[in-house]
Amino acid sequence: MPKTVTTDDPEEAAAFIRAGGLVAFPTETVYGLGADVFNELAVGKIFKAKGRPPDNPLIVHVSDLAQIDLLASDFTTIASQLANNFFPGPLTLVVEKSVRVPLLVTSGLQTVGIRMPRHELAAQFLAECGTPVAAPSANLSGKPSPTTWRAVLEDLDGRIDCVLRGDATEIGLESTVVDCTGPVATILRLGAISIDDLRAVVPNVRAPAELNKDGPAKSPGTKHQHYTPSAEVVVLDDATAITDAALAAYIGVSSRSEPFRKVMVCADVADYARNLFEFFRECDRLAIKRIHCERVESKGIGSALMDRIDRAARR
Ligand code: TXA
Ligand code: MG
Repeated sequence: MPKTVTTDDPEEAAAFIRAGGLVAFPTETVYGLGADVFNELAVGKIFKAKGRPPDNPLIVHVSDLAQIDLLASDFTTIASQLANNFFPGPLTLVVEKSVRVPLLVTSGLQTVGIRMPRHELAAQFLAECGTPVAAPSANLSGKPSPTTWRAVLEDLDGRIDCVLRGDATEIGLESTVVDCTGPVATILRLGAISIDDLRAVVPNVRAPAELNKDGPAKSPGTKHQHYTPSAEVVVLDDATAITDAALAAYIGVSSRSEPFRKVMVCADVADYARNLFEFFRECDRLAIKRIHCERVESKGIGSALMDRIDRAARR
């Protein structure tokens, strides 16, 4: 593969997709690594570039609602209600796939995850591609999702054709994923669209904890290792004893008195979410051994944030 091209021109980036290449692009959640969903050769390259296990399905990104018809065989009433309220935005809807969507994209599942980003540059890029774009987060498998184009290059330089450069992402955590195939919509992954947001539209949406009790994970990706820096992640509750602060780091919304090697005090919980993954990466660059993450209340974006932190800490 030749050198990775970086550009801020969505047209230039889209030309790589149309030619069967791989392009990383910004969205409001995290950067994605895209390929033409209908080009199996191109989609195969995504798994290779990321080192992604083949049993973890990809989300397909659309630039307008009409493209949903190319991807879904049964876009349910619940899916329509959620799309009408939250598309474009940080929400992925899982529905029955059409025959046209390659099984490689869905890891053999008969369902497909569909998302329409609201990020302006992403929308321009996707429109220029002229096809729905399959795209997981643009990190090496197992690493935290990239929230800057520099983080994308850190992982994928020389492994992909192009990076569409945008600003650091606004939300910083991946989209909310909702399974709309059954009679009751079920959250598969928490994100910026909260349970309360969803329930304001579809009152009986099921939360992920209720799901986990009745059997195997329906979202294959949630069983894989995710969101983890090399450093150990520790959730900081009131009772946590801190040793060797000089070798450790801290991120949260409250200020602390310990002499940490690296500290980030965020303005609020949304700011904490926006900065978490880049903070993880920065700590790894500094070879920091342990990262203390302040626990915040699990409501709104706080639930998605604590979901990512708890996963990283459970490793
Ligand atoms: O915000 C996001 O969602 C970003 C941006 C780039 O759109 N993408 C992203 O993709 O986070 P990825 O591949 O890192 O995570 C996709 C998640 C995985 O947990 C996967 O298992 C789940 O979505 N998923 C995708 N298709 C699915 C399907 N058909 N059924 C169940 N879960 C699915
Ligand atoms: Mg990912």
